[in-house]
Amino acid sequence: MNILQINSSARREASHSTRLANRIVERLRAAHPDASLRVRDLSHSPHPVLDEEALTALFTPAAQRTADQAARVALDDALIAEIQAADVVVLGVPMYNFGVPASLKNWIDAISRAGVTFRYTEEGPEGLLKGKKVYVALTRGGNYRNTSADTQVPYLTTVFAFLGLVDVHFVYAEGLARGAAAERTSIDAAYDAIDEAVPA
Ligand SMILES: Cc1cc2nc3c(=O)[nH]c(=O)nc-3n(C[C@H](O)[C@H](O)[C@H](O)COP(=O)(O)O)c2cc1C
Repeated sequence: MNILQINSSARREASHSTRLANRIVERLRAAHPDASLRVRDLSHSPHPVLDEEALTALFTPAAQRTADQAARVALDDALIAEIQAADVVVLGVPMYNFGVPASLKNWIDAISRAGVTFRYTEEGPEGLLKGKKVYVALTRGGNYRNTSADTQVPYLTTVFAFLGLVDVHFVYAEGLARGAAAERTSIDAAYDAIDEAVPA
């Protein structure tokens, strides 16, 4: 089994979402001791934004790309190869200003490539990243689960499904800015949810 862990908090040791993602991975590895693990920390090894140079490089046929264009496309290719190789994808995702971190958006822009991770057919779009399990550990200062202010879950569910990732399990730790007691209760509940969702 190949596990891909994607961390998107701007924080390192203090990050709750990374800790929860670590916990999910620990349990997966306990159940599958031979599993390989690839960790991507999107804040500390940021992926470049999808700007005009990147778009031009992507839409230039490979044989005609300059060295710089080939290098830019290769950065995206590496992320695509990682997720293609993964059997399980584990993401740590804080809420930043009611959305996903920009670093995570850059990763999603990189792995979403027509003809490679999705394609259009006569029946409509088809996701090509099939047969993978996805776990997402969400952390928030407030409480937004199942409200219209939670743009993260509908967005991630939609874009992942578009790419063929339809088996997605969300774990929530909310209310983390509501004092130490609320934070402890929320984190403990998230750990319990992980223990329930991820067989070890
Ligand atoms: C820049 C920034 C923006 C944030 N925006 C929100 C927000 O819109 N809604 C919310 O509930 N919490 C928000 N928070 C709180 C974080 O979601 C919360 O602290 C979470 O634990 C951060 O994840 P981490 O512990 O993995 O770093 C924000 C925090 C930061 C640093």
